Amino acid sequence: MKLENDPLAAFWMPFTANRAFKANPRLLASASGMHYTSSDGRQLLDGTAGLWCVNAGHCRAPIVEAIRKTAGELDFAPTFQLAHPLVFELATRVAALMPEGLDRIFFTNSGSESVDTALKIALAYHRARGEGTRTRLIGRERGYHGVGFGGISVGGIGNNRRQFGSLLTGVDHLPHTHDMANAFTHGRPTHGAHLADDLERIVALHGADTIAAVIVEPMAGSTGVLIPPIGYLERLREICTKHGIVLIFDEVITAFGRLGGATAAEVLGVTPDVITMAKGLTNAAVPMGAVAFSREIHDTVVESGPDGIELFHGYTYSGHPLAAAAGLATLDLYRDEGLFERAADLSGYWESAVHSLKGKRHVIDVRNLGIVAGIELEPRAGQVGKRAMELFHRCFDTGLLIRVTGDIIALSPPLILEKAHIDEMVGRIGDLLENVD
Ligand SMILES: Cc1ncc(COP(=O)(O)O)c(C=O)c1O
Repeated sequence: MKLENDPLAAFWMPFTANRAFKANPRLLASASGMHYTSSDGRQLLDGTAGLWCVNAGHCRAPIVEAIRKTAGELDFAPTFQLAHPLVFELATRVAALMPEGLDRIFFTNSGSESVDTALKIALAYHRARGEGTRTRLIGRERGYHGVGFGGISVGGIGNNRRQFGSLLTGVDHLPHTHDMANAFTHGRPTHGAHLADDLERIVALHGADTIAAVIVEPMAGSTGVLIPPIGYLERLREICTKHGIVLIFDEVITAFGRLGGATAAEVLGVTPDVITMAKGLTNAAVPMGAVAFSREIHDTVVESGPDGIELFHGYTYSGHPLAAAAGLATLDLYRDEGLFERAADLSGYWESAVHSLKGKRHVIDVRNLGIVAGIELEPRAGQVGKRAMELFHRCFDTGLLIRVTGDIIALSPPLILEKAHIDEMVGRIGDLLENVD
């Protein structure tokens, strides 16, 4: 095949304005601790832990070493009808971090696969207990659950859905919980718990006996950091329990320390039936996802079926040895360095720092929880997202990596950060905002 003479042409980049990027590429060459180094040799403070995933900081030696060692010992082992010791060890370690009772772990390779796995097993569970009419899945507006057909169907982001046909049928959406009446709330907003009651409307409309599962992000990150109102998740839990609906928390970004505990479920005090994870599980050094299921769900599917394969689901790389090794080394680091506790301890300083951006040019809201912040800017008339994108570029050019969604800046740095890093991030954003029209 004859290719054009452009080294950037062949790679079709995900979730990227390809033409604009390739006209003005931004390439990362290496990373260490809190920083990336760009291909032109500039240091960039990582305000986003890569993509909400490098919670222990970049290129940590114990993780690198574990991957190296395992790559030389066991490059691959199937987990269909076979397995290897590391994957059992990792499942046990992940289970120990989950809320009481969610101690059966299925491995995947990404957040999207974790979501598909959670949705499929919720359906299989109802079928196994003789309630096969429960096939309806409920998501939420502004929800992001990855890019599989299951995830985009229950997800509530128009742009992620409209190019892709009719999606799954039998899906409904709860209203999102974001309300500008809560603008500049520190931590969890007090107003909005009642929005969970919409689930009762959906139950009344279709009948509980048709509804399999509700999936929500306990804190929605990708659509601009939407913090759950006090009482909201509790209410969802109550309604799901009352109607026998499986409650799934999508914790792909919130698990492994982001909110100051192992899971958002633990930090927020609400236990779902299923938790999806990925990202921080291996510190993103090797792709891996996982789903924690309640004993009840697992046992219903696995213990009560006839002999033979109980669940026709799995991925070639479920529990890949390199990912398992990276996961174990990552969980050791989280424990040994107390990174979840560190996030909790720093969250007060973080909160005050990010809220100091109130009053800066264009800022119409600041939201925070754990070591996450959303800073919402007034959009330019008729040009949604342009102002934040300009800020993103200016930050990149001056040594700070941020993430923007529409006109919302999302910050989620590695949990090894120091107060000086927080000051640098917030100071830089505040200064640059003054220069962005
Ligand atoms: C809540 C949530 N679910 C699922 C995903 C999808 O994860 P992945 O990109 O690993 O498929 C993401 C990614 O950001 C996410 O934030």
